[in-house]
Formats: sequence, C-alpha cells, structure tokens
Amino acid sequence: RIFGMSRDNSMGLDLTSAAVLDELTQAVKDCAGESFDVGPLVPGVRPGQDGGRPVTNPADNTEIIGTVRYATPDEVGAAFDAARKSQPAWDRLGGAKRAVLLNKAADMLEADLIPLIAILVREAGKTYPDAVAEVREAVDFCRYYAGQAEREFTDYVSLPGPAGEENTIGLHGRGVFVCISPWNFPLAIFVGQVVAALAAGNTVLAKSAEQTPIIADRAIRTLHKAGVPEDVAMLLPGDGAVGGELVQHPAVGGVAFTGSTQTAHAINHVLAMKPGPIVPFIAETGGQNVMFVDSTALLEQVTDDVVQSAFKSAGQRCSALRVLYLQEDIADAAIDMIKGAMDTLKIGSPADIDTDVGPVIDRRASDKLGEHCYHMARSCDNHYALELPADCRNGTFIAPHLFEIGSITELSEEQFGPILHIVRYAESQLEEKLQEAFSTGYGLTLGIHTRMESRWREVFKKAPVGNTYINRNMVGAVVGSQPFGGQGLSGTGYKAGGPRYLYKFATEKTLSVNI
Ligand code: SER
Repeated sequence: RIFGMSRDNSMGLDLTSAAVLDELTQAVKDCAGESFDVGPLVPGVRPGQDGGRPVTNPADNTEIIGTVRYATPDEVGAAFDAARKSQPAWDRLGGAKRAVLLNKAADMLEADLIPLIAILVREAGKTYPDAVAEVREAVDFCRYYAGQAEREFTDYVSLPGPAGEENTIGLHGRGVFVCISPWNFPLAIFVGQVVAALAAGNTVLAKSAEQTPIIADRAIRTLHKAGVPEDVAMLLPGDGAVGGELVQHPAVGGVAFTGSTQTAHAINHVLAMKPGPIVPFIAETGGQNVMFVDSTALLEQVTDDVVQSAFKSAGQRCSALRVLYLQEDIADAAIDMIKGAMDTLKIGSPADIDTDVGPVIDRRASDKLGEHCYHMARSCDNHYALELPADCRNGTFIAPHLFEIGSITELSEEQFGPILHIVRYAESQLEEKLQEAFSTGYGLTLGIHTRMESRWREVFKKAPVGNTYINRNMVGAVVGSQPFGGQGLSGTGYKAGGPRYLYKFATEKTLSVNI
C-alpha cells in the first residue's frame, strides 16, 4: 500500500486503496474515542490535566479532543535551566550521532503515520491528502537535516595556511533555541524547526500553536523515544504570553518563528532591545501571493492549478494564491472555467475522504474571513461563492469565494483562507501590474502561466520572491526539491528544507595551530 514518491523523500499512502481508506476511517473513529491531555514536556514538571483548556475540532466545535495546559513562567525558567545545562554535551555529541537519533525519529514518525493523520484530521481539520503530505514533510525534514548534520556538523574541515600552521573550521550549535510554530502545519513546520535546531547542536524549547498542541506533544514524545534526551527537546505549549516569556528570556540563543509578519516584527524588536548576546532570528511569515496568466497559457492547466493553489487546504497555506492576474483576452474564459471547477469542490468534514475543502482553524479565523467576504461582496460586481452545506454548521467553515477587483492595492492584508481575488490586465500593462504586485513588500510565492519561455525568464529575474512556480500550482513545496521561504515581509531566509537552512542555527569556530 505504500509507494515511493521519489528516491529521497518519504513515502505516502495510496489513498485510492479501499483497505487504506478503511484503516484511516477506523483510526479517525478510534481517535474520536480518546481524550488527549497535554501540557509542558519539561523534566520534573507534571505535564497533564489540571488547568487544562479545551482543544476543539475545527470541523465540529462541539467535539472536545482533549485539553492543553499552558506553560507557566516558572516552567519556562526551569526549561531554560535544563536546556542550558544539557546543550554543551548535545553539541559535543557531534552531527553524525545526532543524525542517528533524528533518522530514528523519522522512521518512528513514518511508522506512526496513520495515528498521526487521525490527530491532524481532528485537531487541525486537515483533509486526508493534506495530512498524508504533512507527515511525509515532517519525516523529510528529519532525514534532510540529519544528513546535513552528519556531513557538515561532525568533523572540522581543513583550511589553507602557511607551512607549519594547521587551520580548521567547524560548525556548532548556538545554545538554547526557541522554536515558535503555527497551526497550519502543526506537525511539518513544528518538526522542521525543532529538528533543524537540534541537528545543528542546539537544545530546543518549542512552543506549539494554541490550536494544535496535541500533535506537537506527539512529535516531541517521538523524539524522546528515538533517543533525544528529555532535557534537550522540550515542549512549552501556550499562547502569545508564553511566546513572550520565551523570547524575552536572557538565555535565548536563537529564535525560529513561523507565523504572522506582525508577530515576527514584535519578536525581532524584543530580541534587538535585549541586553546581552546578539540573538539570531529566523522568521517565516505570510505573503500576498500572486499568479500571472497570459493569453498563451493552457487554460485547463491554469484552472486546475488555481483551484489547487487558492482553495485546497482551505487556503490556509502561506504559499497559497491570493491574487490571480489574468490577461484580459482570456479572462472571461478563465473565470468561467474556474467557477466551473469551484462547483465541483466538496466542502465538509475532513474525516470524509471526498472532502476537498475542510474547515478553517477557528472562530477567530472564520469571523475575519467572513467579514472580508461580506465587504467584498458589496463592492465587487463579479463575485462568486459556493454555498456551505448544512452539515458544516457546527464547524468553522468558509466557502470558497472569488472576487474580481481593480487592483491588489485594494487589499490591505493577506486573507488566510479560501478566497481568490482576480485582477484583469492588458498585455501593455504587464510591467506595471508586476510592479504593483511586488510593491506589497511580501515575497513568498509567485506563479506564472505562459508558453513563452522568454516571458517567464524575464519575470523571474525581476521578482523579489522566494519560490517561483511556472506552469504548475504554487503550493506544496517538497523538502530538498523546493526549499521554501520568502523575502521582505515574508521572511528572513534561509529556506526550510534547503541546503543552507541549518547555518542560521549554528555558529562557527576556527582553530589555528602552530605545529
Ligand atoms: N510549505 C508550504 C507549501 O509549500 C506552505 O506553508 O505549500
């Protein structure tokens, strides 16, 4: 039932197999009978139940999946003490030995695929294909960074010098890394950050998103079972206040954050104003991602790619398409085809294998998106939306919407949901529209559909964007193949799942010996 996607990446599940689907459906049912009570995973601290806040299923808010107890300031302090003490030994262990443990964690996550999918479906509202892809990405991150740790963090490398002098250089961890991750990839991004920091020789305090602590608990426990010591990788669940405690602590050696640009600015400010060592900051934030389609494009392919990029995962990917630029000659035809494709989307419970669009994460998200749609529907002449089925009433669902607007400048911020905006342009306006699209300051993903190679090469050259996709969808970056991350308001780099990501988690030492 398992098939390989590529030589180096994790294998997935064959979702066309009836036996696999039965197993998944049963796992989600079994999971519904369980209550997960999670809390801080810090040696000497009681993780569980008391003071727990409910964790709910976004597809059915009446369903409590478990509880989460947030870390207290004292527990944050205790975690820093433990992580500071254990870091030198973890760093001295060397990349090759750390890689053995991280590869083992990858194998264990892969073996746990079905229960992990069940949690992702219930806690994060992931559809089955999205949940499978997410576990695969988490596994890929472990193996990719383990490989780099082994190659680059094990031995010192010789450098040139005069006769009689031996020069070498090596990479080390920076200390205690704080990793703050989002709810939209609560396993893949969570594991990616934590494992990168560990691979480079840091000890880690990880803060999971408020909405998704259960899958994070499972990931940290898996690392422990694989042999990563409990005082090397710790979990501090909580809200922004816990994040604030973590980044303000004097012992922070580095921060990796994925979330909003606004929060990234706030963390950057705190780190900049802190006395003591200069703390490196790795931020991966949002985008106002655009796709340009000219009149040479293949509209069937465009339609499929637009639907994938804008509506799948309920639009809750930082890579998702927000503004589609259509050359006016083909705009009417393309819009008709996109509307037709929207009509085929099934909105509903992610526990149903036929579902294409699941819920958005919580009430706050659905209220914000709903408000945007309400205002846009009043100002846009060309507006199309699907109806929400009746069985969505207990969850936080937003139906896919399409709005034709005059300019991207009408949008004050990214809408993190299944909402597509369309702008028409004349061939003569291409340059102006490109500049307008890039002027938002975001630079995460860009899609281009054209059969003119000279055109996409020219646009790519000028685009201040991290990930450009030509004649395909613009989501689902694959570890090692499409290292992911943006520029400007979209993030600091280096790219996750890429060959240089670990460097920002590391410091270098050189040794010069007069022999
Ligand atoms: N890495 C994800 C993607 O490529 C976005 O967060 O879709």
